[in-house]
Amino acid sequence: MQPAVERLTAGLIDGLIERSDGGEVVDLVDLLAVPFPVAVISDMLGLPYEDGKHLWKLADDWSHVFSGLYTEEDLTRADASAEELAAYFREVIKDRRATPRDDLMSSLVQEATNGRLDEDELMALILFLFTAGFAATTNLVATGVLALLDHPDELNRWRADKSITPSAVEELLRHTTHTTAASRVTTRPVTIGGAEIPEGVLVLTLLAAANRDPARFPDPHRLDLTRDNGAHLSFSAGAHYCFGGSLARIEGAELFPKLIDTFPKIEPAGTPERRAVMGLTGYTTLPVTLGR
Ligand code: HEM
Repeated sequence: MQPAVERLTAGLIDGLIERSDGGEVVDLVDLLAVPFPVAVISDMLGLPYEDGKHLWKLADDWSHVFSGLYTEEDLTRADASAEELAAYFREVIKDRRATPRDDLMSSLVQEATNGRLDEDELMALILFLFTAGFAATTNLVATGVLALLDHPDELNRWRADKSITPSAVEELLRHTTHTTAASRVTTRPVTIGGAEIPEGVLVLTLLAAANRDPARFPDPHRLDLTRDNGAHLSFSAGAHYCFGGSLARIEGAELFPKLIDTFPKIEPAGTPERRAVMGLTGYTTLPVTLGR
């Protein structure tokens, strides 16, 4: 995906240059944090970006209720959006079955044709892949930019030395932890930190807390882009470790350096609005001015 990510990043940064010339306030969520991962996951699945732009809003409405924190109105919208999404993907599946292409969608459809997935599993996998493919990365871009604006010394350090990019991306992932929790069911009794947890119990593991554990990460609230003391839990762990972790790393390593190089001045221009979804950290708006 590296060449596609490079191409899509360049296109979006060019768009930002056009929109921000003259000191206009731009919303980085609207113009970058959403379209960037939507374009990447659409490309990976083999969907036209124009369709992705429409689908992400449906997927966002649908996934809004996953956390359990929603109104009746949210639920009605989520139902309608899920149906529209499924109708769209049913057509795509039909198309790929008739005319396979060199894309992930065709490979998934082939797995179903071979009997390794039934039709419900195929649909669930496609819907989840599309949604997971943009949701957390959108949050990485928005929270990452804000974390850098809050730590101008670290931002300038990255601008001056791009060799720190791999550890800088890991540190942004750790510091901002977008998926704050993962749930598991115990398969046997366990004792953790003196607490006894019986078998068959639902456990909510707080990834965000683990990522700020002072025993693991000294001075954990500090953003230190050259921290080298090991793996965070932002992509969780075990059998359900994030499928898209490598892709998200490629996206972060491509986007942040391009953004901070193109715009030596990134200034907040208003209060960013938080995304009200339990378990996901992110923003729905991030107004800034961009100077070159
Ligand atoms: C910064 C970006 C991302 C973050 C922070 C993130 C975080 C996570 C976390 C914490 C989990 C594990 C949940 C658990 O343990 O139960 C997960 C699972 C998953 N993620 Fe991501 N993710 C990101 C990007 C992506 C992308 C780009 C894709 C798709 C291309 C993706 C696809 C998935 C899938 C399919 C799973 C489910 C894996 C399974 O249950 O076996 N993620 N992600």
